[in-house]
Amino acid sequence: MTQNEVKFKEVPQVSQIDDTEVILRIEGLHKRYNEGKSNEVHALRGVDLEVRKGDMMAIMGPSGCGKTTLLNMIGHLDKNSGGEIFISDIDTNNLSDGQMTAFRRDNIGFIFQLFNLFSFLTAVENVETPLLLKGYNSGIAREQAKMLLRDLGMGDRLYHSPLELSGGQQQRVAVARALITDPAIILGDEPTGDLDSTTSAEVMNLFRRINKINRQTFVLVTHNRWIAERCDYIVHMLDGKISHVEMGPFLEE
Ligand SMILES: Nc1ncnc2c1ncn2[C@@H]1O[C@H](COP(=O)(O)OP(=O)(O)OP(=O)(O)O)[C@@H](O)[C@H]1O
Ligand SMILES: [Mg+2]
Repeated sequence: MTQNEVKFKEVPQVSQIDDTEVILRIEGLHKRYNEGKSNEVHALRGVDLEVRKGDMMAIMGPSGCGKTTLLNMIGHLDKNSGGEIFISDIDTNNLSDGQMTAFRRDNIGFIFQLFNLFSFLTAVENVETPLLLKGYNSGIAREQAKMLLRDLGMGDRLYHSPLELSGGQQQRVAVARALITDPAIILGDEPTGDLDSTTSAEVMNLFRRINKINRQTFVLVTHNRWIAERCDYIVHMLDGKISHVEMGPFLEE
């Protein structure tokens, strides 16, 4: 272990930080795919960003501008090629792979467009999986998963396979799975992309409710202005950089 490495048990739970705190700070972030090769793509070209705890932020921009790449960097699903990401003042460059895995599991929730649910598991099994991975007792994990699904209006679909659920219902299972560990930051890549407008509105209202009640931070990539305007502000990207930030509120309360 190098001197800079944070010991495993010292990695704090981000949710314990104070409300006014900057939960995510990005400085000079670069990402190059296929680095040094002839097909190198410089996908992020110096991104700086600050997000406060409880913010609900949208990221918009043309296809290929780097939105998913940025989200993957924030979620630490892939390594950056330069720059720094601080989550609640922890410089994540200093975490080992093992520490990063635990940190991601405990602090970050992911909601993708294609839901990524396991079709061989029931709804409730999909939702309890992250708790089982954290070492929860199976009875407790099951109870918590049921409670959350009931809260999301899925109480009568607990034992269905995702294949037997509508798009909106699958999305609610995916949302429950992302929320079950109570992560401080929730990342969504086109989280309503495959849903019709009524279901998208329902999911967005759900996000807003969770955001207001739990002060959980949301970062949502979307092509949809309607979705973006339900966030606190919109970060616009162009060619691997942030071009400008549009501050809300966009709607009258
Ligand atoms: N795994 C990869 N290997 C090589 N290049 C990649 C990879 N992933 C993305 N890219 C390239 O990086 C750039 C940014 O891609 P990214 O997926 O972040 O765009 P995006 O803004 O999410 O686009 P969209 O709105 O179409 O989803 C694009 O030029 C893309 O071709
Ligand atoms: Mg994308």
